[in-house]
Amino acid sequence: MDKNTQQFAEGLLQYLNDSPTAFHAVENAAALLRESGFRELKETEKWFLEIGGRYFVLKNSSAMIAFTVGKGDLAKEGFHIIGAHTDSPGLKIKPDACTVTPDGYVKVNVEVYGGAILQTWFDRPLALAGRVIVKENGTLREKLVQIDKPVFMIPNLCIHFNRDKNEKGSLNKQTEILPLLSMKAEGMEKDDYLPALLQEETGIEKADIVDYELFLYEYQRGIFTGNKQEFISASRIDDLSMVYAGLAALTEAQTGAGCQVLAAFDNEEVGSTTAQGANSGLLLHLLNRICMNLGMTNEGYFQAVANSTSISADLAHAVHPNYSDKHDTESRPVLGGGPVIKYSASQRYATTALSAAYFVEACERAGVPYQKFVNRNDIAGGSTIGPALSGLTTIPAVDMGAPILAMHSIREFGAVADMVYTKQAFLAYYKGGQL
Ligand code: CO
Repeated sequence: MDKNTQQFAEGLLQYLNDSPTAFHAVENAAALLRESGFRELKETEKWFLEIGGRYFVLKNSSAMIAFTVGKGDLAKEGFHIIGAHTDSPGLKIKPDACTVTPDGYVKVNVEVYGGAILQTWFDRPLALAGRVIVKENGTLREKLVQIDKPVFMIPNLCIHFNRDKNEKGSLNKQTEILPLLSMKAEGMEKDDYLPALLQEETGIEKADIVDYELFLYEYQRGIFTGNKQEFISASRIDDLSMVYAGLAALTEAQTGAGCQVLAAFDNEEVGSTTAQGANSGLLLHLLNRICMNLGMTNEGYFQAVANSTSISADLAHAVHPNYSDKHDTESRPVLGGGPVIKYSASQRYATTALSAAYFVEACERAGVPYQKFVNRNDIAGGSTIGPALSGLTTIPAVDMGAPILAMHSIREFGAVADMVYTKQAFLAYYKGGQL
């Protein structure tokens, strides 16, 4: 690994470790952008964009769009857009946070966010992060919180009471996944436990809490692993590794002729149809606003949109060493083989021959390998932000992502090389962009 690669890989791991929720992923992205001269714009205030300027906008504190204002004729040069997502499957605390069993166990009442592999959440220390809305002196305020301590645990049922566990692994999501917080304490009601924990660890008073969005996360840090430390084992590689690759490319790229855009949406894991998700007006409003702010006409705006391209960056499935028959017989991406272009005849991926071609061009200019993925005909597979992104904007999208294993496990597994290749391809895309 050369020095740049090493630096990128360490930065990525730190970003994954420091971003337990979408809120933290956005906060840390904003910090990286500020360091590189990007200025925050508020949706609620008037903008004065400058040619060559670098900006970002936050939505709901859980989505972020960063962009540069190009030096060319935007109507002709268009937008070069990379989209990714900030959220990850996991466990979210319900409005009534705790329950006390007759045996005196205090359990946290959680619901499942997205398609998590629930068994991977068992028997490992869990911590807590998210945001709390507080009312202080009559004003509503949002506070990001992170209790970075091993406070929760979901213990497995012992094999002696569950002899066929290894043969039948199904779980009841209501009754079997509630994490243990503590034993019942004298004088405490069930509604006291979470506020008490928040007060002790963050200083937020129970009386000030209006509402919260809190998620559990794995306390254990992500690491490099493998014989040559060539792999990465961490939470939230899907999709924060693509957010980070996008950030690294955008901050490194010189201002181009068109506008370079990085859109990190929330709520992909639950279908994207939210104000801060990809299936919303968020990106399109922003593109429109940039054009209007630069004094373009509607005609110029529609021309700019028609001259734009996009990359929908979300992770892909590498062939699994123990389940190699889960892939198509011919399309078989592997770890370390480079970013994967994802195809679907039913358009669960937005890739077309044309959008694939401009991504391949970017890979070739960057000198990085690439692979292709299509599902077996008897496996439905997943989807991602590409179809919504291109459907709403009418901008072509290529669905791609670095290949990983164990997608949606509490610890996912990928190759460092693929993250590096992806960043290099993104940089080439931002630099050159179009056919
Ligand atoms: Co994803």
